[in-house]
Amino acid sequence: MAYKDVYAASLADPEGFWMEAAREIDWERMPTRALFDTRAPLYEWFSDGLVNTCWNAVDRHVEAGRGHQTAIIWDSPVTGSKRAISYYELRNRVASLAGALRAKGVEKGDTVIIYMPMIPEALEAMLACARIGAIHSVVFGGFAANELAVRIDDARPKCIIAASCGIEPGRTVHYKPLLDGAIGMATHKPEFCVIFQREQEVAQLIEGRDFNWHGFQYGVEPAECVPVEGSHPAYILYTSGTTGQPKGVVRPTGGHLVALNWTMRNIYDVEPGDVYWAASDVGWVVGHSYICYAPLIYGCTTVVFEGKPVGTPDAGTFWRVIEEHGVRALFTAPTAFRAIKREDPKGEFLEKYDTSCLKALFLAGERADPDTIQWALDKLKVPVIDHWWQTETGYAIAANPLGIEALSVKIGSPSVPMPGWDVRILDEAGHPVPAGTLGAIAVKLPLPPGTLPTLWNAEARFLKSYLEHFPGHYETGDAGYVDEDGYLYIMARTDDVINVAGHRLSTGAMEEVLASHPDVAECAVIGVSDALKGQLPLGFLCLNAGTTRDHAEIVGEVVALVREKIGPVAAFKLATVVDRLPKTRSGKILRATMAKIADGEAFRTPATIDDPAILDEIRGALQGLGYAKA
Ligand code: COA
Ligand code: AMP
Repeated sequence: MAYKDVYAASLADPEGFWMEAAREIDWERMPTRALFDTRAPLYEWFSDGLVNTCWNAVDRHVEAGRGHQTAIIWDSPVTGSKRAISYYELRNRVASLAGALRAKGVEKGDTVIIYMPMIPEALEAMLACARIGAIHSVVFGGFAANELAVRIDDARPKCIIAASCGIEPGRTVHYKPLLDGAIGMATHKPEFCVIFQREQEVAQLIEGRDFNWHGFQYGVEPAECVPVEGSHPAYILYTSGTTGQPKGVVRPTGGHLVALNWTMRNIYDVEPGDVYWAASDVGWVVGHSYICYAPLIYGCTTVVFEGKPVGTPDAGTFWRVIEEHGVRALFTAPTAFRAIKREDPKGEFLEKYDTSCLKALFLAGERADPDTIQWALDKLKVPVIDHWWQTETGYAIAANPLGIEALSVKIGSPSVPMPGWDVRILDEAGHPVPAGTLGAIAVKLPLPPGTLPTLWNAEARFLKSYLEHFPGHYETGDAGYVDEDGYLYIMARTDDVINVAGHRLSTGAMEEVLASHPDVAECAVIGVSDALKGQLPLGFLCLNAGTTRDHAEIVGEVVALVREKIGPVAAFKLATVVDRLPKTRSGKILRATMAKIADGEAFRTPATIDDPAILDEIRGALQGLGYAKA
């Protein structure tokens, strides 16, 4: 069937379409129907089914006689290690860990925070939770203790599973002190912690609270898979919103299994047994969906890569991994390719490796700029597929569905809506706009299976953040347009979220940190364009009257403060002191105008601006930092 027929069928008969897809999943009890809409606009999928994620991702492959197949390849250039884990071995390891968690009282519905680097044990911890129906929440290692504490207080975990350390090029990330600090700061205290001691650093355990990963599994009964309802939360993943309080995106079990499994053949065009590599981190949604769950649910081999595209040891690392492990599909953020291209523009490293096993490259997480796509196409000579999605959705809203039909590529567009996604471009008042006209991107409800049904313990915030602005629709927070052929173009966020090296960050959260500095009276953070990371945060500080301290010193302090409070991942290194901020007469800071000035883009001075002269002062300050070039 052609893409347009599959797409039309998915919208005409969602019930039939998704029940058909659900047959690829092993259910303990098949759901009687797909969509449950009695609480619209809150929707659920497969609610009355009973199912277990770990069974589908691990055990069923062993039962089917494929236990010897490699499930996980760990390739860690930063530690010089490699390891392969078969499905059989994975089943035993996960059952044992799950049994130990259960023996300590972790049950279906309990929450567990996982704070681990890119090691197979991170996936094992996720799967062990899924095995017993516990709800995990993985926190990215690049966040500071304070961010971890915020998540501990929101998720209220019974247990935290962490590693002793992570390895970044040139430094060790001491996870254990960060964890101890976070628990100290948080109001909620976990009952116990499980620490995976890495060779690179053995952490000090707190007697009675912390247990060693291996020791605590000794002598326990392995756990069987506990079936859960289709609507049971599989996990919570925190993501950046407008304020410093992150949003706990809830992932429902049944829809997650069905939808992710569907994407593997239809979007990524892989078969069970193929090697699939998502070069991201388990702390992000890409890592949840495409390092851990989807490849395993579908029976692929997944690559867990602990390294960077450049510098570990060089710009040829990706090609080495592809050749060595026979990677068929690679998924990464455009920033990784920009980094490789910058180091090796001619692609000389590529010539040293045979990457003929690679059939396609998939990019997501931020806008894929045409130069990078073209470079990847020229060098790799495989389709380069930009696809658009969000933490909230868990998989692609728009893509080029290679497994259904390879559509012609339009560089700059993540192609077309995927089945189940009724994408609309709306004006401020919620009316559809014609093709080619920029508007807010919304999706007509219900969203397809596997997408967020709510925010963790925050239904009112869910309704307000996503469903209120355009009744009957989900508001994506992205702006863009559709062309005459139905191809989508994602142009910008409509909120205060920026995208730094494919990492989603809140400028609002950074402003809260800057405002906490004793000399700062007022501040604003914007995202400025960056050739490598896509965007970088840049802060403007207005100081308290009478402050005579050196500006450079204050800038240094706020940079350190953001690193301490949010973490290195914020990449906040640019700030400048200004006398005033440009505002509307009603007091709204004109961040978008400042961002346009910084990027040297044309802009119209807002009619509501309080005092247009301030914009020249802002331009001057930005030029001092090397931005706002004419
Ligand atoms: N734990 C602790 N610190 C981390 C971390 C982790 N898991 N991941 C990143 N950091 C730190 C980095 O060390 C860096 O710290 P520094 O300021 O001391 O240098 C900082 O956070 C910023 O990280 P990032 O923006 O990712 O830059 P980088 O230097 O690690 O990597 C590139 C830069 C150029 C290699 C980048 O292009 C890249 O590939 N980033 C990863 C993209 C990605 O996987 N995105 C996920 C979405 S699909
Ligand atoms: P995250 O929730 O971290 O996955 O970030 C989601 C946001 O990243 C989206 O709302 C977009 O703003 C941006 N994004 C993701 N994929 C793309 C893409 N292919 N093109 C443009 N922007 C993207």
